[in-house]
Amino acid sequence: MCGIIGVVGSTDALPILLEGLERLEYRGYDSAGVALHTADGTWRARTASGTESVTALVAQCASAPPKTASGIGHTRWATHGAPGEHNAHPHVDCSGDVALIHNGIIENHHELAAQLTARGHVFTSVTDTEVLAHRIEEFLRDGLDLEAAVRATLNEVRGAFAIAVIRASEPDVIVAARRVSPLIIGTAEGQTFLASDVPAILDRADRFFVVDDDQICVLTPSGYRATDLSGAPTELTELVVDWDLEAAQKGGYDSFMIKEMHEQPDAIRATLLDRVHQGNIVFDELRITDEQLRQVDKVTLVACGSSYHTAMVAKYAIEQWARVSVEVDIASEFRYRNPVVDSTSLVIGVSQSGETIDTITALREAKSRGAMVVAVSNIVDSSMAREADAVLYTRAGLEICVVATKTVLAQIVALEMLALRLAQLRGTLSPSRIEELLGRLHEIPVLVEKTLASDDAVAVVVDQVKDTHDFFFLGRNVGYPTALEGALKLKEITYVHAEGYPAGELKHGPLALIEPGVVVIAMITNDELKEKLFANLAEVKSRGATVIAVAHENDADVAAVADFVLWVPATESLLSPLVDMVALQQFAYHLAHARGLNVDRPRNLAKTVTVE
Ligand code: G6P
Repeated sequence: MCGIIGVVGSTDALPILLEGLERLEYRGYDSAGVALHTADGTWRARTASGTESVTALVAQCASAPPKTASGIGHTRWATHGAPGEHNAHPHVDCSGDVALIHNGIIENHHELAAQLTARGHVFTSVTDTEVLAHRIEEFLRDGLDLEAAVRATLNEVRGAFAIAVIRASEPDVIVAARRVSPLIIGTAEGQTFLASDVPAILDRADRFFVVDDDQICVLTPSGYRATDLSGAPTELTELVVDWDLEAAQKGGYDSFMIKEMHEQPDAIRATLLDRVHQGNIVFDELRITDEQLRQVDKVTLVACGSSYHTAMVAKYAIEQWARVSVEVDIASEFRYRNPVVDSTSLVIGVSQSGETIDTITALREAKSRGAMVVAVSNIVDSSMAREADAVLYTRAGLEICVVATKTVLAQIVALEMLALRLAQLRGTLSPSRIEELLGRLHEIPVLVEKTLASDDAVAVVVDQVKDTHDFFFLGRNVGYPTALEGALKLKEITYVHAEGYPAGELKHGPLALIEPGVVVIAMITNDELKEKLFANLAEVKSRGATVIAVAHENDADVAAVADFVLWVPATESLLSPLVDMVALQQFAYHLAHARGLNVDRPRNLAKTVTVE
């Protein structure tokens, strides 16, 4: 997730770009850069100073040419190519005529780069983005104008992009386009802007327009013109923006939590991008050979908090699909229990921040015993990513709310892809079954969107139980970590007593706590175990508890056991946490709301815990 901004027709472009980049830093800050249209060609500045990138860029821009009317800027969240100045945007073609910024991932960049290199192009970065600049350069050489060259290039590209392109010889023109990655256009008298997000240009533009998938826009000082990939004219949808800066930063939502919940479909799409090449699952950044992965005879996952729950989901998936024995441990426990791991063990630390001290020290412990250590992190170049032998990045974008939502789903997707890779290498699933499961994973973003759309129905159920003080979450198989995550979310933001249990364990103790006034929330999204869960629910109902089921749409049997139902779309049972957890996030969010609590600032909690 990167941030992009551009302006044409201003009296002074640079301050607009720099202020916009500061407001887009939440989308990434590994490096930053700008390119300005000047009378003498394109002027470019780039820095890579981690969290200080934009500040360093401001300093570097002290040597910028006098006021210019237009330019583009970028703040980077590294995916392909390590954070570093040579990988910072804008990227240029061989001649330096074209400068380009990009948010997204070009999936077929390997094959395009090979063709371009064979034709003599020289690459100066290891990003997926640079291929676009060189391919546009070729089309310009063939006589196309910038808009036509961008269109021709995008017709060859697979993946996700929001791009903005300038050319020294076409001043006061920016060509921008989008697929999947967000892009908006803003207009004001004599000036036109583009940005990844409204806050970057909130107080600059008077009107805002959303660019849709595969729309190309030509921005000039007098406005914009939009076409589709075939060149046919299209319209952009106007976005009514009556927000102040704080509301704009939350995308118009009332909290970062709900905004980030709505970013989950894109977080999953981004995490899935570029991972399947000709049927093979590939992780470019995972520096472990196939041979090493084949030889793994035990996998241990270590994590804390919500990440521990995603690690538990991964255990079910890896064991089921790859038939390798998996242990999951709370990182702070693993560290001090003299764990049995050696050079045939794969130890995976799961952490959105990559900075949780318990997980870092657990990985150090595993490494000192000779294990292969992998970090699953959402933050590029985090401490864990640097210390591990290999890293697998989730691509959820920066998560601001203390409670984890989109990073949780992105972790599950990354870990389940890894489980499928292990299965592929070990031959434990047939190619057709792997293809089927990959197809199911790619359907998940739409199912998450459907679940998010049922928000009002969740609020109605919450209203019926909003004064409850005791909640028990029950599940079997992956429904169990889902139950744990549902209970954790409730504890974190509503401060009520909530516990998650494997449903079969209920009768071994917790059943003594069930009485009228207690609410039991059950995951009934695994058809094979449904009847067992029904039996557990009969036990709690007969003791007076109110039952809420999380169940598949059209499951007629559920109505007989549940007082209320949170309906979710059906999917493969090992993928069901990706949908069921969304319903539980909504449940916690609405209960917090009903109690007048600030979901973004839960008491006593921190986003990243760097003390033991
Ligand atoms: C804190 C946060 C949790 C998070 C946990 C692990 O407790 O409040 O939301 O799940 O840390 O964080 P990590 O960054 O390692 O995933």
